[in-house]
Amino acid sequence: MKQLIKMTTLLLTLSLASSITTASSIDKGRTLAKELCSKCHSIDKKSQSTNKAAPPFRIFSEKWPLESLEEALAEGIVVGHNDMPVFKFNPEQITDFLAFLSSLKIKDVSEEK
Ligand code: HEC
Repeated sequence: MKQLIKMTTLLLTLSLASSITTASSIDKGRTLAKELCSKCHSIDKKSQSTNKAAPPFRIFSEKWPLESLEEALAEGIVVGHNDMPVFKFNPEQITDFLAFLSSLKIKDVSEEK
């Protein structure tokens, strides 16, 4: 039951994200990821992360509800990042970034088939 609620929340978040965001938002999110995160994390659908310890971004939306990532971004990501500087995103950047993450996930699913 708890799992079901979690899934529902995730789906709601994803559909919300895709309805309020535009392609340009996704592009801006990708640029952000590229500038700030890609030197360690993989930000595309296939490649390995440059820093082997850093999880590829495409698994993020499977691992966490995007809304909890949203909070983490607003407060500054600190979790378990020995090698990683603390990032703080403003609300617009967060919307863009999450749009980008959802786009990775959705494309992933459809292109795996
Ligand atoms: C200098 C390298 C580096 C950069 C730059 C970097 N990360 Fe990371 N990140 C890591 C490493 C290494 C881990 C794995 C840490 C661990 O598991 O202990 C990680 C893990 C994470 C996690 C998972 C945390 C968890 O609890 O498992 C998130 C979310 C994350 N990074 C987000 C980001 C975002 C968003 C950016 C860009 C704004 C970014 N990272 C930039 C190195 C980096």
